[in-house]
Amino acid sequence: MSAAAPIVASSPHVMNTYGRLPIALSHGRGCRVWDVNGKEYLDALAGIAVNTLGHAHPKLVTALQDQVAKLIHCCNYYHVPGQEELARLLVERSGMSNVFFCSSGLEANEAALKLARKYGHDKGIERPEIVVYEKAFHGRSIATLSATGNPKVQAGFGPLVEGFIRVPVNDIASLKQATEGNPNVVAVFFETIQGEGGINPMRAQYLKDVRALCDERDWLLMIDEVQCGMGRTGKWFAHQWAGIVPDVMPLAKGLGSGVPVGAVVAGPKAANIFQPGNHGTTFGGNPLAMRAGVETIRIMEEDGLLENAANVGAHLKGRLERALGGKPGVKEVRGQGLMIGVELDKPCGVLTQRAADAGLLLSVTADSVIRLVPPLIMNMDEADEVVERLLPLVEAFLAE
Ligand SMILES: Cc1ncc(COP(=O)(O)O)c(C=O)c1O
Repeated sequence: MSAAAPIVASSPHVMNTYGRLPIALSHGRGCRVWDVNGKEYLDALAGIAVNTLGHAHPKLVTALQDQVAKLIHCCNYYHVPGQEELARLLVERSGMSNVFFCSSGLEANEAALKLARKYGHDKGIERPEIVVYEKAFHGRSIATLSATGNPKVQAGFGPLVEGFIRVPVNDIASLKQATEGNPNVVAVFFETIQGEGGINPMRAQYLKDVRALCDERDWLLMIDEVQCGMGRTGKWFAHQWAGIVPDVMPLAKGLGSGVPVGAVVAGPKAANIFQPGNHGTTFGGNPLAMRAGVETIRIMEEDGLLENAANVGAHLKGRLERALGGKPGVKEVRGQGLMIGVELDKPCGVLTQRAADAGLLLSVTADSVIRLVPPLIMNMDEADEVVERLLPLVEAFLAE
């Protein structure tokens, strides 16, 4: 019998919003995934920093199967015990106090922006303004794309939402200058490590300085940890490396290890801004999503994944630095834990397909930054394999 014809991935009826690779994935296990034709890939992308526990983690599979058989959804007309449980876990790990649940990163950020505006209105500020950053990415709703610092994301969707002041990263003087004498400022909003913008970390001293400024001026410090949070850098939340605590922290991506879960964690300054009727969502906090979040955190702790992310990340970054650092065509290897970027001096989007051909899933962001955000379960051997598959591709690309 002749072999079945390979299945070619195509989507004639799905809206054409993504530049997809011609690959359709079928299943996964740990850090490996297979496509519908049986080709194996090592996953250094984790569905863009989502699959915290890799694929088909046996403990998560069992828990989700149990939950699906009990109750998937019931809406927020009723108490959902899992919400209290996941909120407690997040509060304990963040040092903050209350949580609102939603289903995605942009929803979490949208809620944060509403919190900031209402914080202002409650203080009598009628036209509140929020400081946001160059190269930021906060999502693709009208408000979050307005907060995003990428003209490509905004093009075609004007008029943008007003009330944002944009500043460069890691420059406290610019922040002070841009807000000087402005009584309408209510919040400062950024990612600890910009993800889509090219793996750009905020320096620890800058984080401390902004925290101090927010305290001095009574602004909310709002830190988008949608991509860099949930253990990816080796601490629960990336800003914790600087020893600060924000007032508002949107989360999503890795929180449910693949099940859509978003959350806005608030400290005491922001915990009581929303009152019944101010905000809500049908899917947010449903029992399946909450079980995914609770089990993700429990398994992360049982399996030592924070330490693993720190150690394997340092090893991976170290190897990339030694192999590529200082080479002509390589600008920088940067990041923390399992959130690593290799910036080249020319656009390198073609590497996503070439890497896939070589059995490696990764992404290129901000045109010229190779992004590695693998599952937090990745081990040292797999990290070595990432390097061994990636280096020849980068070297050949730089020689072109
Ligand atoms: C930092 C950050 N915030 C928000 C978002 C938006 O999240 P979502 O795609 O779940 O809406 C992303 C997505 O890449 C992100 O990286």
